[in-house]
Amino acid sequence: MLGAPGAGKGTQCKRLVARYGIAHLSSGDILRKERAQGSELGRKAQAYMDRGALVPDELIIDMMKKAIDQAPEAGFVLDGFPRTLKQASALDQVLDVAGVRLDAVFNLEVDDAIIEDRMSGRRSCPTCGAVYHIRNLKPKREGFCDHDGTALVLRPDDELEVVRQRLVAYHQQTRPLIDYYKGRGILYQIDANDGVDVVDIQLQKIIDSLAKAGKGAVDQADGKAVV
Ligand code: AP5
Repeated sequence: MLGAPGAGKGTQCKRLVARYGIAHLSSGDILRKERAQGSELGRKAQAYMDRGALVPDELIIDMMKKAIDQAPEAGFVLDGFPRTLKQASALDQVLDVAGVRLDAVFNLEVDDAIIEDRMSGRRSCPTCGAVYHIRNLKPKREGFCDHDGTALVLRPDDELEVVRQRLVAYHQQTRPLIDYYKGRGILYQIDANDGVDVVDIQLQKIIDSLAKAGKGAVDQADGKAVV
């Protein structure tokens, strides 16, 4: 799942996971977990994340290779990885070795002005990672997670200055991946300026038609599937 920070990647991936029973491999979530555990990787990543820069490729590639190797047979959706051409080429090698085919890459397109609003209104659960928005996706009880009742927080990298840095990093380092996957004929452009349900329906239609055509993420009998 490609897209700018705050485009809705995590929100949509969680829905895909619930619908298709696949795993959610989110590089951002894994990094935040490593930080919370105080691991060496977490400590190394911290300074980059806090200033809105990308974490060095070598660290990310090792981390995601492990996650893919441990993914369940049912398949997985990658969220926030790859984010540079070097990461995309490393992913190709990892999938090659694992005998897994990359069927589809979704690019969630959202205007930068909308991104800033989504980020400033996002509230996250530090316990389970659930994501809400103060207007677009409210929890049942204001300020608390629906799943475990934890008080919701504003992610430190959602401060406006950091969001703007993250957008710069996205435009410079991640957008080239659109052409990379377009050239491979597996890129699907999604207008993600619309509401969560509308975006969800667009994704669902594409995945279900891929599955019907036998290329789908959910119908493969011959190994792990990737969306
Ligand atoms: P990461 O956690 O991956 O952050 P990100 O890509 O910047 O994405 P976000 O999690 O901020 O946004 P999202 O697209 O998932 O949006 P969400 O669904 O939450 O990475 C954090 C940092 O880790 C990076 O800056 C970097 O330092 C490092 N990192 C991670 N991966 C890396 C890599 N591969 N290489 C190098 N460094 C890496 O939605 C946002 C808000 O909008 C929510 O409140 C949601 O409720 C709302 N919303 C969602 N969709 C809609 C909609 N359609 N309409 C209205 N509201 C919506």
